[in-house]
Amino acid sequence: MKRTDAANQAQTLLADYSQYIFPAITPFYDDHPLIVDRAKGSTLWDTEGNGYLDFFGGVLTISVGHCNREVTDRTIAQMRKVQHTSTLYVNEAMVRVARKIADLTPGRLQKCLFTNSGSEANETAIMAARMYTGNSDVVTLRHAYAGRTMTTMSLTGHGAWRLGGVFDSHIRHVRNPYIYRAPVGLNEKGLIDLCVQDLEETLATTTNGRIAAFMAEPIQGVGGFIVMPRDYFKRILPVVREAGGVFICDEVQTGWGRTGKYFCGIDHWGVTPDIMTFAKGTANGSPIGCTIATPEIADAVKGLTFATFGGNPVTMIAALATIEYIEKHHLPENADIQGQLLRDRLTILQKKYSFVGDTRGMGLMQAMEIVEPGPDKRPDPTRTIALIDAARRHGLLVGKGGLYGNVIRIAPPLTINREEMEDGCDRLSNALADIA
Ligand SMILES: Cc1ncc(COP(=O)(O)O)c(C=O)c1O
Repeated sequence: MKRTDAANQAQTLLADYSQYIFPAITPFYDDHPLIVDRAKGSTLWDTEGNGYLDFFGGVLTISVGHCNREVTDRTIAQMRKVQHTSTLYVNEAMVRVARKIADLTPGRLQKCLFTNSGSEANETAIMAARMYTGNSDVVTLRHAYAGRTMTTMSLTGHGAWRLGGVFDSHIRHVRNPYIYRAPVGLNEKGLIDLCVQDLEETLATTTNGRIAAFMAEPIQGVGGFIVMPRDYFKRILPVVREAGGVFICDEVQTGWGRTGKYFCGIDHWGVTPDIMTFAKGTANGSPIGCTIATPEIADAVKGLTFATFGGNPVTMIAALATIEYIEKHHLPENADIQGQLLRDRLTILQKKYSFVGDTRGMGLMQAMEIVEPGPDKRPDPTRTIALIDAARRHGLLVGKGGLYGNVIRIAPPLTINREEMEDGCDRLSNALADIA
């Protein structure tokens, strides 16, 4: 196709996008949105023929590389065999995935309920916690993101992601342990003390002292990869349990090796959730939500509930293939090794550029917080966007996050190798030089 024909087609597509898609669904790169053509492994190509190293993986969803051969082949074979039956009949794949997830998650987590997204997985978790405890109030963290249904928007601690104005009045937000933005003079321990105190005060002043759950991400994803301090959960959970609440761990972003070494992010903190939720990387791009609970919590969900597409055989095979691939190729270990390399490179960049205020993360979930140089750490969302655009010009896709839109999120597929990682870091370095 001639260049001008391709350009005309792109223009028509973008005009149709504005006309037929809700404007709230906003693609990156305002002036020149990226139109995807195809992808393989760690690389994605646009319709102009440009290749990019994909260091955001469809928002941490491409866990084992784009169009992973094993996952794709097994998924297509299942599509040819039987695509959909609903949960009115038993399908073997659903039981096999549930058993695999139960084996790889900590403690007594055992029974799964499958849906189609992280939002639904979190909705299910809240429902189960309320039915199990008989309490209504749920405590979660500021800067959390939990999804786009009414309950999960209520759980979300980012004003910008709370649309519609009608929220679940039984949800309370407490201080999150955001070390980089801790009150001046507080060290990590002091900040955790403050968080525990805030939880205790919130329970005493805004609830009757009895709660259904405390819900948190081990690393706040949309929040800008805010890593919970080592002792945080060990300090907070006794207060939660004393109030009768269960611990819901949202592993939608951190699950399946993303944080390095372990399959579940929370394993780094040495505590055991009562309910966990997964989505994103579980099936390498096939829509899935999973809520896993202890047997007694799952059994407390009495009555009828149903998700038409939840647990469908095609998605279940995609999930099984993805998780088995992660196991077989030791990808949590690779995430640890490549993540360390990435972190070392980010630290060098932080030393070089005063507007890189913080670098943080675990495994292949690493971030840079962009600020105005100086002691005030004022967020700089304008420079953040300039950096994302510059990275694209250098053939690198990265994400954005943070309450102030000033955090660069980096999360390549877990299959990334050393050469690709070095290449991506060189591109990022060139992008930073461009905007300095
Ligand atoms: C931590 C976390 N929980 C839940 C969700 C909601 O998942 P979904 O977009 O699949 O509904 C997200 C999405 O980004 C998330 O990051």
